[in-house]
Amino acid sequence: MPLKGKSALVTGASSGIGRAIALRLAKAGATVWASDITTDVVEGGPPVAEPLAQISPASCFAQLDVRDHAACAQLCADIRQQHGRLDIVVPSAMTPGRGSLPETTPEAWRRVMSVNMDGMFNILSGALVQMRDQTAENDERGRIVVIGSQHGMVAAPGAFSYGVSKAAVLQMMRQVAVEHADEGIICNAVSPGKILTGKTGPAVADDVLAYSQTRTPLPRLGRPADVAGAVAFLCDPATTYITGHNLLVDGGWMAG
Ligand SMILES: NC(=O)c1ccc[n+]([C@@H]2O[C@H](COP(=O)([O-])OP(=O)(O)OC[C@H]3O[C@@H](n4cnc5c(N)ncnc54)[C@H](O)[C@@H]3O)[C@@H](O)[C@H]2O)c1
Repeated sequence: MPLKGKSALVTGASSGIGRAIALRLAKAGATVWASDITTDVVEGGPPVAEPLAQISPASCFAQLDVRDHAACAQLCADIRQQHGRLDIVVPSAMTPGRGSLPETTPEAWRRVMSVNMDGMFNILSGALVQMRDQTAENDERGRIVVIGSQHGMVAAPGAFSYGVSKAAVLQMMRQVAVEHADEGIICNAVSPGKILTGKTGPAVADDVLAYSQTRTPLPRLGRPADVAGAVAFLCDPATTYITGHNLLVDGGWMAG
């Protein structure tokens, strides 16, 4: 239980990777606020609050729209007030964006940016207010692990707004890591490759899966647990002296 006594906020935690991260951090002993705009589970199954309560009765679901700056600030403040500290923040909420630049309307661009980029700004902003204000423990005031993407590092074919939003997420991670290192804020990213979350639709169309497998040297695509394990590693107090790092969980995609 390396995270026993720690509080953790995960956004986009109702489904897929965010859900796996919330449950993984709870298994590691953290008290988790699993937040999302909805309790609906993209891949099906019970709302995250149910498995979370079985692992960690003190953990809870918190409804949050990451596009709401004030609400992000308030949830971060509430966690600190209830738990005494805000130790770990993992922003994973996202909305997909499809189409090349000419195919992207201003409305579609804003829809994607408002969640993936503005939402990340809002959560990081709320987290930093609380973390900077709390006392340091073992030279640290808090840890942040943003969820990026391999498509924030290389072009995302047919997903202009999504790719640009994920590049912005990775740059926010670097900015925070460097600008707040002297305050004891540890900030890293985990960038998944293709992860099969159980969702249906365009993300798992035959051509997308074939392209992803062609790009992935390991003989299988990823699982949410692969990403959750990497996040747990970066949150573990035994993991020290790593900040500003983008940890790829991509089966080797970016090495090819
Ligand atoms: N699945 C992959 O192959 C893959 C690859 C690379 C990166 N990622 C990244 O991993 C993260 C999770 O992806 P996923 O595939 O599990 O997606 P998902 O669609 O299963 O989950 C995204 C979650 O974000 C929530 N969300 C959407 N808008 C929100 C808002 N305004 N406020 C709060 N929550 C909101 C959704 O309700 C959903 O629960 C994302 O950051 C994504 O970019 C995923």
